[in-house]
Amino acid sequence: FDQIRPKIEAHIREVKDFPKKGINFRDIMPLFTNPQLVNELCVVIADHVRHTVGHVDSVAGLEARGFLFGPQVAIQLGVPFVPIRKKGKLPGATIEASYQKEYGEDIVAIQEGAVKSGDIVFLIDDLLATGGTLRAAANLIQKVGGKVGEAFVLIELAPLNGRAKLPDVKLTTLISYD
Ligand code: PRP
Ligand code: HPA
Repeated sequence: FDQIRPKIEAHIREVKDFPKKGINFRDIMPLFTNPQLVNELCVVIADHVRHTVGHVDSVAGLEARGFLFGPQVAIQLGVPFVPIRKKGKLPGATIEASYQKEYGEDIVAIQEGAVKSGDIVFLIDDLLATGGTLRAAANLIQKVGGKVGEAFVLIELAPLNGRAKLPDVKLTTLISYD
């Protein structure tokens, strides 16, 4: 990732006081003004999966911004993409896992059968903050007997220590902010 990291970093915009005062929001959307770089990133992530994770049965991405990368990585690897969404969004039978947010709880879901017992899943999202979202996603995969081969995020907000919620998961982050 050493070659691509500075190029990605140059496309991340800092927006002060969004969505609330005091929050320094890291905006990944400028990346999508450069489709060639997005493609290069997804190819590099897929190569990383092949070389350091090995075989995976699927790529699972988290609503909403994990959907910007997950399907592209899945296409590179030639495996299914599994959408993980907030409760009530996916039709048909679903499996759910809850997680604690700063205030109250939130629930994420996958469609029944999307991950089977024994499946190795590569989990991807744009950003790790408190770790609640990735923790819930990992719980969901583990609940149906799957294994998280690795969790990957573009951005880690290190002071929030989301990493501590994932002691059982191999976590790779492209860029870490203090
Ligand atoms: C953001 C981000 C991650 C999550 C990380 O999404 O894209 O999915 O927060 O936070 P955590 O580590 O503290 O759980 P958000 O919840 O803002 O929702 P969105 O996908 O609807 O934008
Ligand atoms: N950027 C994007 N998503 C987020 C952030 C951020 O800084 N913090 C929590 N979710």
